[in-house]
Amino acid sequence: MGDFKNLDMTMMFAIHDALRRELERIARITSRVDEDPRHVLSTAVGWELFKKFLTAHHTSEDLTVWPVMYKALAGRDSETALLDAMEAEHAVIDPLLTDIDAALADRDTGAERLGGLVETLFTDLNAHLDHEEREALALMDLTMSPEQWTAFSVEQKDRIGSDANRYLPWLLDDIDAARVAAILGKLPPPLRAAYETEWRAAYEDLDIWAVKDAAGR
Ligand SMILES: [Fe+2]
Repeated sequence: MGDFKNLDMTMMFAIHDALRRELERIARITSRVDEDPRHVLSTAVGWELFKKFLTAHHTSEDLTVWPVMYKALAGRDSETALLDAMEAEHAVIDPLLTDIDAALADRDTGAERLGGLVETLFTDLNAHLDHEEREALALMDLTMSPEQWTAFSVEQKDRIGSDANRYLPWLLDDIDAARVAAILGKLPPPLRAAYETEWRAAYEDLDIWAVKDAAGR
């Protein structure tokens, strides 16, 4: 997981892993033959949460990480080239989400397009997350101050907003108990208590990838 001296990367790795987990689930759903993947994706809460949390994460980096790093690294070409790559990799994801939603809504040819689009999303987003972890996190650690790092997490928290009750259990979904404990240990006690007494059970009841009927149940 790298050796970071300055910044705490726990939550960064947690969100990346949660996105990877959801990509696997989305790819599995799209390869199903017993149920129309368009129906599953367009009715399940999981697709909405994935888009919301992914967008919150990337937009927060676009607003509060890359600009800070560009400023600090001005004139250092190989470092700023890495930042250019990070922005370019982000920029292809949004249009893919839009194209997937268009395919979900298209009764005629949507089904044919969906598989290829999800495959591209799977490949591009996984490649981006790997690239960021391999090269950009170490540079963040060298470049950003703890205050700037906090500003990034505040931005992300604001963007998640009223979905905080779903975000934390979503983040911790399907990871081992030791890691859950390590992440919970970083959080303020009231948040941890909310997770343990309410949010976790409510998230499990939500069953985010269950096929819903037309009424959304
Ligand atoms: Fe990230």
